[in-house]
Amino acid sequence: MADNPPLERRRFDTLILGAGGAGLRAALQLSDSKRRVAVVSKVFPTRSHTVAAQGGVNAALANVVPDNWHWHMYDTIKGSDYLGDQDAIEYMCRSASELVYELEHFGVPFSRLANGRIYQRAFGGQSQNFGGEQALRTCAAADRTGHAILHTLYQQNIRAKTHFFDEYFAIDLIRDEEGAIQGALVMDIESGQPLLIEAKTTLLATGGCGQLFRTNTNAHINTGDGMAMALRAGIPLQDMEFFQFHPTGVAGKGMLITEGARGEGGYLINKDGERFMERYAPHAKDLASRDVVSRAIAVEIREGRGLGENADHVLLKVDHLDAEVVKKRLPGIRDICRTFLHIDPVNEPIPVFPTAHYVMGGIPTNRHGEVVAPQRHGPEEAVQGLYAAGECACVSVHGGNRLGGNSLLDILVFGRAAANRMATYLQENPYHRALNEASVEQAMSQYQRWQQSGEGETVDHLRAELRQVMESHCGVFRTEDVMQQGVQQLQAIRTRMADVSLQDNSRIFNTARVEAMELQNLVDISMATMKSALLRKESRGAHSRMDYPERDDIQWLKHSLYSLQTDQVDYKPVRMKPLSVDSFPPKPRVY
Ligand code: FUM
Repeated sequence: MADNPPLERRRFDTLILGAGGAGLRAALQLSDSKRRVAVVSKVFPTRSHTVAAQGGVNAALANVVPDNWHWHMYDTIKGSDYLGDQDAIEYMCRSASELVYELEHFGVPFSRLANGRIYQRAFGGQSQNFGGEQALRTCAAADRTGHAILHTLYQQNIRAKTHFFDEYFAIDLIRDEEGAIQGALVMDIESGQPLLIEAKTTLLATGGCGQLFRTNTNAHINTGDGMAMALRAGIPLQDMEFFQFHPTGVAGKGMLITEGARGEGGYLINKDGERFMERYAPHAKDLASRDVVSRAIAVEIREGRGLGENADHVLLKVDHLDAEVVKKRLPGIRDICRTFLHIDPVNEPIPVFPTAHYVMGGIPTNRHGEVVAPQRHGPEEAVQGLYAAGECACVSVHGGNRLGGNSLLDILVFGRAAANRMATYLQENPYHRALNEASVEQAMSQYQRWQQSGEGETVDHLRAELRQVMESHCGVFRTEDVMQQGVQQLQAIRTRMADVSLQDNSRIFNTARVEAMELQNLVDISMATMKSALLRKESRGAHSRMDYPERDDIQWLKHSLYSLQTDQVDYKPVRMKPLSVDSFPPKPRVY
């Protein structure tokens, strides 16, 4: 057999894994300050999942009604069901306006009000004056805001000469003996060849893991690769039991119908034509926070007030709105309805169902984007050279439930914050540390592992089963015995994974290798999610236990931390102290 060619190696100041909004905002900051930045993306950058964000980005610009960052902060903490860290939330809400204006200057084509200012719409959980009237805080480019932002950030990075490795898959992080991160091993998907990218700083910006669930609003690429790499590197995942189900996915199919549809005046009805949200959230109604609306829909269906052959969905009405509003403000969802449902929402209501959308948990970071992990014999500390931002990270600004419009904000704020912190680190640490070849070898063994096929079930088969287990054992409503069964089924899937088949007519394609690695990542993350959910014996935000229906601030006002190596869940306190204002203590959450 021919000898393997030597491993190709490249060196950069910063390696960014993921080319969504967080990765590109960070890359731009560093490239503009003349750092050598590599962005690795498993798809062409403008196909990253940020492109699919519809409704908008929150900032208290007060373009339509009075607003300020402090009200936004209050809404975000209440939306998080008091699990969000209040220092990070203050930082995010205070930074929001500056970052949105910056986007405007970068060239994002925001929709406009008649006076030329950025258009802002209502979204769920927003209020004026700490719980008063509805705020209009979500800055929108029609219902294609993520598309507008991602393309603009990509163009700015091309100008700034960021180096892109398009269609490269990240395999594993490289660590020195003290645990400092030194870059990553990646694979060129076209050639199948491994490439070692050595870097003084590494940012994980790999997005979420919506592919854990059978029906989801996410791109196929959202397989939690960065989160699983962190787990394998000994970093626990925080708050993984908090998974958001968006109230309005297209029933049975999953495509997102933006909350902006309700923000523009749309509302939900059951089979009796009743506007049922009035019973669940008398003040905010259809614009209550997402966890509240999703549970309400699930209850309506469970109690027999759903529609369709299987009584399994409710309807979202926008057909009472002026057709011009739908055409101008919601063209993307009109396209989705016409393409996938063969209906025009201008004339007919849309069948919807709560659909897996967003993970609030992830890689633990502080508000500077530094990854923080408990040390073997002491308190948590920053992992040297490693940063995370965006959906793969848990800062935690979303706590138990994220408000719509806060995820585009999160990627901008913490993408930039991480870049600023990396810039400081690079100034203080100008040289590459001696590379730990043992860690490179370990990453190479992960690469080698997928050069051969097993003889068991196919990746497709196991992935379908995994996603079904997650959907039926860890969905909107959860109970102890159902999740216990879920853990056992996931364990069985993990065992069967060892012999998974990659072959297609006796050939192994590189894409099959990628899919196998993605599935391995999903298996580890699903276990983190199910175990953390099983152990949290209360209901808070999106984590809703039928056997523990109340929030319990005495026992459970704390973050979970799941570790792969111990398969255990640990806990740490919520940071209740903001930076400059009084804290918002927990109180009953009503909308
Ligand atoms: O409904 C939406 O447009 C989704 C927005 C978000 O998840 O922030």
